[in-house]
Amino acid sequence: MTKIELPENRRLQVGPTGSIVLVSCGEGDEANIITVGMYMPISVRPPLVCIGIAPQRYSHQLIEKTGEFVVNSPSISIEKEMHYCGVSSGRKVNKWKETGLTQLPSLKVKIPRIKECFGHLECKVVKAYTVGDHTLFIGEVVATSADEEVMNGDTLNPMKARPIVQKNHVYFTVTDQK
Ligand SMILES: Cc1cc2nc3c(=O)[nH]c(=O)nc-3n(C[C@H](O)[C@H](O)[C@H](O)COP(=O)(O)O)c2cc1C
Repeated sequence: MTKIELPENRRLQVGPTGSIVLVSCGEGDEANIITVGMYMPISVRPPLVCIGIAPQRYSHQLIEKTGEFVVNSPSISIEKEMHYCGVSSGRKVNKWKETGLTQLPSLKVKIPRIKECFGHLECKVVKAYTVGDHTLFIGEVVATSADEEVMNGDTLNPMKARPIVQKNHVYFTVTDQK
C-alpha cells in the first residue's frame, strides 16, 4: 500500500472521526449553544472532560464568566440544528429561537441543558490552559443525565442514541455493531 503525505494545512485530516457535542454555556438571558468537535473525556476519578474553545468565540467569554458549561450529546435527528450552532454566533443571534432547541434546567449547574439532546454532562471548570489557538477548558462532571429510551440500564446504547460523528463537516452516525 502506498502512503501519501498530506500538506501542512491538512495535518489533522486523517485522525479518527470524532463525536460532535453541543455545549451550552452562559446564564439566564445570555444562555448560548456552541457546536464542538474538540471534546474528550480525560479522567474517570474524578470524572473530568475537556473541550477546546477558540478565544474569539462568544461562548469562550461566557464559560470564563460563569465557570460552568454543559456537554449535550445530539443525535443525527438534529443534525441541521447542530450545524447551525456551529456557523452562527450568539453575539448576533439567539440560537435557541433560531433552531427551536429548548432549555431544560440543569440538576447541579446554572447553565441550561438542551432538552432535544439525549445526554448531558454538567460541568464546573477546574482548570483552563491556552494550547495553540484554542483554550482547553477542563470540566469536572458534577451531574449526568440521559433520555431513558437510549439507555440499557445505566449504559448508553449508541444504536438507539445515534450520536453524530464528523469529518470535514460531513456528518455520520452509528449504523451497525461489529
Ligand atoms: C462540526 C463543527 C465543529 C466545531 N468544533 C469547534 C470546536 O471544537 N471548538 C471551537 O472553538 N469551535 C468549533 N466550531 C466552530 C464554532 O461552533 C462556531 O465558531 C460558532 O459559531 C461559535 O459560536 P459562538 O460565537 O456563539 O460561541 C465547530 C463548528 C462546527 C460546524
